[in-house]
Amino acid sequence: MSVSGAESFPTVLVVDFGAQYAQLIARRVREANVYSEIVPHTVTADEVAARQPVGIILSGGPKSVHVEGAPRLDPAVYDLGVPVLGICYGAQLVASQLGGEVSRTGRGEYGRTGLRTIDGGGTLLGGEPPEFGVWMSHFDSIVTPPPGFTVTATTDDAPVAALEDRARRIMGVQFHPEVVHTEGGQRVFTRFLHEVCGCDPSWTMDSIIETSVASVRAQVGDGRAICGLSGGVDSAVAAALVHRAIGGQLTCVFVDTGLLRKGEAEQVVEEFQRSQGIELIHVRAADRFFERLAGLTDPEDKRKAIGEQFIRVFEEAAGGITDARYLVQGTLYPDVIESGTPDAAKIKSHHNVGGLPDDMEFELVEPLRALFKDEVRRVGEELGLPSEIVWRQPFPGPGLGVRIVGEVTPDKVATLQEADAIVRAEIRDAGLERDIWQAFAVLPDIRTVGVMGDERTYAHPVIIRAVTSEDAMTADWARLPYDLLERMSSRIINEVPGVNRVAYDITSKPPGTIEWE
Ligand code: XMP
Repeated sequence: MSVSGAESFPTVLVVDFGAQYAQLIARRVREANVYSEIVPHTVTADEVAARQPVGIILSGGPKSVHVEGAPRLDPAVYDLGVPVLGICYGAQLVASQLGGEVSRTGRGEYGRTGLRTIDGGGTLLGGEPPEFGVWMSHFDSIVTPPPGFTVTATTDDAPVAALEDRARRIMGVQFHPEVVHTEGGQRVFTRFLHEVCGCDPSWTMDSIIETSVASVRAQVGDGRAICGLSGGVDSAVAAALVHRAIGGQLTCVFVDTGLLRKGEAEQVVEEFQRSQGIELIHVRAADRFFERLAGLTDPEDKRKAIGEQFIRVFEEAAGGITDARYLVQGTLYPDVIESGTPDAAKIKSHHNVGGLPDDMEFELVEPLRALFKDEVRRVGEELGLPSEIVWRQPFPGPGLGVRIVGEVTPDKVATLQEADAIVRAEIRDAGLERDIWQAFAVLPDIRTVGVMGDERTYAHPVIIRAVTSEDAMTADWARLPYDLLERMSSRIINEVPGVNRVAYDITSKPPGTIEWE
């Protein structure tokens, strides 16, 4: 079983009622230095009790508690003696399951709403001003609290906007304390976690690293592990963490496809081999990739060719480490939640990396499987990885191969690498790197006419693509300042031979995709 050690921390369970907010709630809890895990609403009281949580938070949900088949909490959970905080739908569930009344008043609230505390705001809102702004999103309202509950806040349209039963330590808020628009929202969590649940702030970077290191040591013992490095943040942090745990028992394999960004391969080798002293097999495979890509123009054919070639090259390199039994992977908590498989059992590695030889069976080491992306970055910083790696923007597996429209050749890659390096450097110098989800250059398969000096030119254009996004599922084109775009344009045309025009892509996703292929 692949574990990360996080399960040994005092844990708050976030029960997911199907809203998009459960992950956000779990992150807010962790920001208060308490470990949290998301569980489905079908969890039983016995399962909750077995996990021995220090607190339970019920998330919001899209449905009305009155709708047939609306998700409910196993009522025996309320009798476990563990503190419960219901948020939005979760608060209505607390009210309706414990004997209060929730009804459709016809006066839902959406967006910013003025909240007034009652009698000082009770445990959760004590210390907040008598009136402040919260973020609401509900149609039904709690109209009567259950017996034993005190109403601690109200709004114009929600008579019961916060309620608590101090003796049983069960409480609820109709608003969303997890969203940034709620003033003092984080303090609601802090009070619940520290004052009601009595949690110590134990989920800190130091203790996360210490626990993961101990857990990797316990899993691997004196065995040998391999890790594929891509240059991206997840595999980099996983490798650095495992190296801290088992040192020379780790070998990293870095496949240089020739399709990486300018300077990236050198940076990976410099950082991991020279600075961190990690044993690194650097496979220079650009020629093999270009050979395989010759004549291919269809985007899916190119993806498939790059993927297959990658597996072959990785396989050859990893196959040389005959005594390796463990494969390190940078799986993150959102992947674990989305796959719905809390425990990845021993599986053949080709289900994960896409194909190692059938007779090579690895046990997975996944030291990041309890962490959110922002926590991974903080662990990376704590382990001393440079900020270029820790704050690296997402980069597609097939690399520049899907940013060159048409056939991929070494010349085109060289042109694109230069233009792309200028785009990224200018974004960095403008201080926008962390605000922009991805910024890069694309090389289309056309040429256009221009004039430089007194000469007519007939050369490639370069497209600049910069998007903002939360999760890559949707994206908007970034409103970059004109003077920044102008600097990029003039630098690319002046510094990159073979380019005579620069365009900016103003397509959101949907209807476009982030990449051009
Ligand atoms: P699209 O272009 O589909 O991209 O809007 C969404 C996100 O996924 C990345 N991407 C890929 N990542 N292999 C990957 O590992 C791929 O083939 C691939 N295609 C797109 C893209 O960079 C963006 O972050």
